[in-house]
Amino acid sequence: YSNDHQKMLEAHALLQKFYHHLLVNTKEGQEAFEYLIQRGFTRESMEKFQIGYSLPSWDFTVKLFQKRGFPLSLMEKAGLIIKRESDDSYFDRFRNRIMFPILNSKGQTIAFSGRVLDQKDQPKYLNSPETELFNKSSVLYNLHHARSHIKKQQQAILFEGFADCISADRAEVFNGIATMGTALTEQHVQQIRRLTDNIIICYDSDSAGTEAAYKAGQMLAQQHFNIRIARMPDGLDPDDYIRQNSAEKFRQDVIGASMTFMAFKMQYHRIGKKLQNEGEKLKYIEIIISEISKLENAVERDHYLRQLADEFQISMDALKQQQRQTFYANK
Ligand code: UTP
Ligand code: MN
Ligand code: MN
Ligand code: MN
Ligand code: MN
Repeated sequence: YSNDHQKMLEAHALLQKFYHHLLVNTKEGQEAFEYLIQRGFTRESMEKFQIGYSLPSWDFTVKLFQKRGFPLSLMEKAGLIIKRESDDSYFDRFRNRIMFPILNSKGQTIAFSGRVLDQKDQPKYLNSPETELFNKSSVLYNLHHARSHIKKQQQAILFEGFADCISADRAEVFNGIATMGTALTEQHVQQIRRLTDNIIICYDSDSAGTEAAYKAGQMLAQQHFNIRIARMPDGLDPDDYIRQNSAEKFRQDVIGASMTFMAFKMQYHRIGKKLQNEGEKLKYIEIIISEISKLENAVERDHYLRQLADEFQISMDALKQQQRQTFYANK
């Protein structure tokens, strides 16, 4: 690695230590600390995930870097400070936020994401920009901790965000990783693939999370993963669910009761359709038959066709014939 690269890593390590210290040991960090406690974070998870707090100051980190001999132009390249257009001076990127360090798979901090406490006029999470160290479309949050658990359990659980990963960890679900709000990419998939081919998608049960789960599932299906989808009631996300219920209920009723990707698709394609309407019902059946015809396992195909037959009072013969036609039409 180049000297610059090394210096950028050192700067991240230094800031992470400062932010964490400010959160857990100082008066300035008390409000943020109490916010996290009230949200159900524990001291242990603050330690394990090295959560921190950035001061409401425009030049705390700028001054720190100057004092410690980190070149400011390089710190700007690292995404930690920003240059003013007006007079070429620098100011802190992260101010008055709860700081989540983002680690690479070697356990080095390569970026930060900062969450507002309660300010409604700002983006909820502010992330480091793309830098020489940080490529958002390839990093999976918590992979550093989760890697060995994913390998051992031969299963990964995919979340949307930081709080979900951390709450799951508190619920003793250690094989969770997160895409940090972005869509799943090929690079993410390749990294998971090296560890296991069993995955549970546990995105937020709101409409954005449902769409994203469908897309992520399609992508993982192309790579022949065994996919399950875990859902929570009432638009909750995993962190909400764990707090409102319990760790045990999350493990049993959410993770333990996850459904196959096909079962999820049977629910997904109903969204917004009025199945009492003849035309919409036939359209729905056609879509599901086409999905079933993509299944490689004959027993599974039979299982889902039977479900369709039962629900819509159609003969298995007709469904099977239609399924074969779809299969050959798509070949
Ligand atoms: P969510 O909007 O579901 O947030 O975004 P959350 O994780 O439930 O946040 P809390 O519980 O209110 O703290 C999921 C993920 O998308 C990314 C973050 O990584 C977040 O965890 N995100 C979200 C951003 O990068 N920027 C945003 O403004 C919002
Ligand atoms: Mn500590
Ligand atoms: Mn969400
Ligand atoms: Mn969420
Ligand atoms: Mn949340």
